[in-house]
Amino acid sequence: MQTHDDGRLRHLLTLEGLPRATLVALLDRAQAFVDGQGAADPRALAGSAVCTLFFEPSTRTRLSFQRAAQRLAADVLDFDASTSSTSKGETALDTLRNIEAMGVRGFIVRHHADGAAAALATAAQPGTAVVNAGDGRSAHPTQGLLDMLTLRQAKGADFARLKVAIVGDIRHSRVARSDLHALRTLGIGEIRACGPRALLPDDDTLAGCMVGDDFDAALDGVDAVMMLRLQRERMVEGLVPSLEVYHRDFGLTHARLLRAAPDAVVLHPGPMNRGVEIDDAVADGAQSLILRQVSNGVAVRMAVLEALLA
Ligand code: CP
Repeated sequence: MQTHDDGRLRHLLTLEGLPRATLVALLDRAQAFVDGQGAADPRALAGSAVCTLFFEPSTRTRLSFQRAAQRLAADVLDFDASTSSTSKGETALDTLRNIEAMGVRGFIVRHHADGAAAALATAAQPGTAVVNAGDGRSAHPTQGLLDMLTLRQAKGADFARLKVAIVGDIRHSRVARSDLHALRTLGIGEIRACGPRALLPDDDTLAGCMVGDDFDAALDGVDAVMMLRLQRERMVEGLVPSLEVYHRDFGLTHARLLRAAPDAVVLHPGPMNRGVEIDDAVADGAQSLILRQVSNGVAVRMAVLEALLA
């Protein structure tokens, strides 16, 4: 569905099942953009138009896709659901078809419903490419790619020797799912999944991972800590007793980080709840790669747009 018969990417909907060679090629291309060697054709997408079609809020993903498209000389249309005709009842599919009719070839879709981007990709015209910028709790593939690029820059390409902890609300996290798919594809040595029992998935999402709710034990000697945002509505739902208790048990403090390997790195997809899942001293500390992730996001999204549309 997301690849042509010859293996080229047609859409990017999920990292699950994406061939290792395709994933690594996207990372390599993104790294070339980071290194400044990727500007061989700075007008790769000149004459193309892409639309950020977001039905949920976003800062990093939407703006970095726009920045990526601009750097490849594409025209960028920004769709804002709150001021659009969806408020009059127009469906997401009719919205896409109407924007397609304006000559737009690339759609970056964020939607609260699982499978929304795939449904739009299925209905799109041949020649239209859809990128999933986060659907429900299912997938956020470009976040997974930028996390892998950031990890690879810090720790090298031999993922088999790495131990990684993924911590927090894994049950509801599309970022965690895409990270898990990519880490497995890249042959990660060990994944420790940690969070409150109520926020751990009860399906096969964590197959092959060490799973537990003891954060200190999960941190022991890891090379990277991938923190997740606590979705505050989970407290209203009664899945988390209080922010204070969450911070006590699953907040990454400077003292806790000392349990990880001395050169361990810290990632967080943003937005962060400072003082809840991560302390300022860690978020802004020497081991934090959080803003590097954001910079890498532009390069990864350039690589994806180029692969789909150039
Ligand atoms: N990481 C991420 O998806 O952030 P935004 O919600 O701001 O796009």
